[in-house]
Amino acid sequence: MTADPSQIFDQSILNNDADQQFYILGEGSFGKVFKAIDILTNQEVAIKQLKKSQLLTEEDIANVKMEIELLRLVSCGGSNKIKPAGELGIVKLIDSFEDDEHINIVMEYFQGQTLYQWLSDRSKGPENPHQESQLVPIFQKVLKSLSQIHNLGIAHRDIKLDNILIRKKDGSGEENWEVKLIDFGLSAVFMPGEVSKNTQVEHTMLNILNKPLNFNQPCWQGKSPLIKEVVARMLHKEQRKRITIEGCLKLLEEGGY
Ligand SMILES: Nc1ncnc2c1ncn2[C@@H]1O[C@H](COP(=O)(O)OP(=O)(O)O)[C@@H](O)[C@H]1O
Ligand SMILES: [Mg+2]
Repeated sequence: MTADPSQIFDQSILNNDADQQFYILGEGSFGKVFKAIDILTNQEVAIKQLKKSQLLTEEDIANVKMEIELLRLVSCGGSNKIKPAGELGIVKLIDSFEDDEHINIVMEYFQGQTLYQWLSDRSKGPENPHQESQLVPIFQKVLKSLSQIHNLGIAHRDIKLDNILIRKKDGSGEENWEVKLIDFGLSAVFMPGEVSKNTQVEHTMLNILNKPLNFNQPCWQGKSPLIKEVVARMLHKEQRKRITIEGCLKLLEEGGY
């Protein structure tokens, strides 16, 4: 905890009106994510600033506390049981502090794009934005990261294009992406075999159970039988028959990825 964050994190760059948009990295339901400079280390950081006035329910507050605690847990590379955050494929927690109005989560800044932004930008260009050979390696990195997080007993529960950051590795080709999972705001600790009581998760499961998968939709055109099989098995209605992350990785590897 830091008593006076303004002494440590220089947000003065945020006051430069002309560039202000540039320094807001994202905006969510509870607040904004800013880029700032840690004055002590000169390191660029991302500060997720949550407005206390928008955290209305006990559950909202518990979720923020959980987000900070789980990030802290996976960020402590010192333990020999837990891999450093970088190896787990998540951004590291640097600090957290509160003032009267906000809860601030200071994280390592990852200069990249969300997978959502990347796909939307590509869809404006000449390339096929959903080219499988480029997307599967990113998908595999997400799966590996999730598998390691699950091994620590943590479920992310909000995996989506907006919560995946990517950037091309220096000097590497198109297929070599660095991938980071962000936003542990809905994550939870679980015991093996535990069934979630969270209503949001139930809502997602109801969608999976009630909406048939339709490979005739345009987005599936040109997709390989392998990737259709992976997706169909991931969304299998019977939990017993649903493929595991390790099963997915194996299937993709056997298919040449
Ligand atoms: N560590 C980070 N480095 C760079 N950008 C980030 C970082 N964390 C979040 N962002 C940006 O801020 C956005 C919102 O962050 P997120 O944690 O997903 O908040 P929310 O709970 O509001 O969805 C992300 O989609 C991403 O664009
Ligand atoms: Mg998010």
